[in-house]
Amino acid sequence: MKNYISSIVVVLLLLLLFADKPSDAQRLLRSIWRRFTRNTENGRPNTMPGRQEIVSRQDVVPASDDTVRPIQIPLTDATESQQETEPYIPQRRSSLFIDGTSLDFVYWNKELGNNKPIIIEFGNEKQILNYWVRGKPLKVITHGWLGTDEDDKGVFGIKTAYVATENCNVITADWNRVSGNYMYPMPAYQTARVGSIIAELLEHFVQLAVIDPSDIHVIGHSLGAHVSGACGAAFSLGKIGRITGLDPAGPGFEYVALRSDHLDSTDAQFVDVIHTASGTAGYSSPIGHADFYPNEGSPPQPGCLESYMPTALVNLIGCSHSRAHEFYADSVYNRKSYSAVECPSWEEYTSGVCKNNTHSFMGHDADPKARGIFYLQTNSTSPFGILERVL
Ligand SMILES: *[C@@H]1O[C@H](CO)[C@@H](O)[C@H](O)[C@H]1NC(C)=O
Ligand SMILES: *[C@@H]1O[C@H](CO)[C@@H](O)[C@H](O)[C@H]1NC(C)=O
Repeated sequence: MKNYISSIVVVLLLLLLFADKPSDAQRLLRSIWRRFTRNTENGRPNTMPGRQEIVSRQDVVPASDDTVRPIQIPLTDATESQQETEPYIPQRRSSLFIDGTSLDFVYWNKELGNNKPIIIEFGNEKQILNYWVRGKPLKVITHGWLGTDEDDKGVFGIKTAYVATENCNVITADWNRVSGNYMYPMPAYQTARVGSIIAELLEHFVQLAVIDPSDIHVIGHSLGAHVSGACGAAFSLGKIGRITGLDPAGPGFEYVALRSDHLDSTDAQFVDVIHTASGTAGYSSPIGHADFYPNEGSPPQPGCLESYMPTALVNLIGCSHSRAHEFYADSVYNRKSYSAVECPSWEEYTSGVCKNNTHSFMGHDADPKARGIFYLQTNSTSPFGILERVL
């Protein structure tokens, strides 16, 4: 029997360490630790950790007693010596109140290319209709906790893949001002509100008669998977065609339910889920119409276990968690390269008894009629898809 409390603590600690770039995650954790120790050394116990992140950057005035003194150190330029003196605080406005302006929506398509982001003004979507590719589907992509700083990193690599290869409409939904809060339970709790704002944006496009709900595909990683589910649930002009949950966040939804409204199969006409870190950062149970468990769905994913050093062991969770969006992006570049088979368990899958069962591709080419639990194996490096061998 597992110790419930300690497993929660472990999961939350692991969560602190998963980000799209493991080295950044470690830097982040170190800076949080330094801030904590600095505050206690100053005789000001950090009674409300994370409070600084909630404060809007605009509201921060240089205070004489240095109560709140954010210093901007870009992640990529941060050096060890800078980190010693000042904590890293991301250049983001955080907010507890969320409306259409709390999110950054950016429009992309193949003709514009990956270097031409078109900012969508919430409530004034009409302005981008000149760019809209009529009669083509819409892909909406959103990130998870702490999110991504650069537009083609992390889950937004899927945007890059679609813009490079597919003639369709792509919107990236950046909710960093909410997800950038280090206090995980807060953004976890706010996923529903963020999702409903994305739903509102999509309703505007449907009202402009440039897209049918069934041609909308929302793709979200980690907490973003639950944002996508909330978006589908809140969408009021019919049902969205497809939602893809990429390793939907487990903590706060599955084990310690802060929210009961996780992504599920009622949220879209077709909900497919890719599980890569189930039982740690990711959700374990099947929650979609089709749930794909590459390499059994849990850490370490192939290529994620570099060594048995403690840092490597922690990184393997983040690495495995990120594999979900890496597999998906890969499936856009390399079509039909992730053949999976419906099977009740990994043991039966590896024994070969399921090989005559229903097959479906994982990722971009997933069959909208696929139902149940699917297993497959992948390679350890990109391209991960294994073309020929299906057990
Ligand atoms: C799969 O189908 C083939 C051809 O019908 C058959 O020979 C084989 O025994 C089947 N395998 C399993 C595991 O059912
Ligand atoms: C898997 O990766 C290995 C190299 O690591 C490569 O030789 C092999 O062809 C790949 N398999 C497939 C089926 O893509």
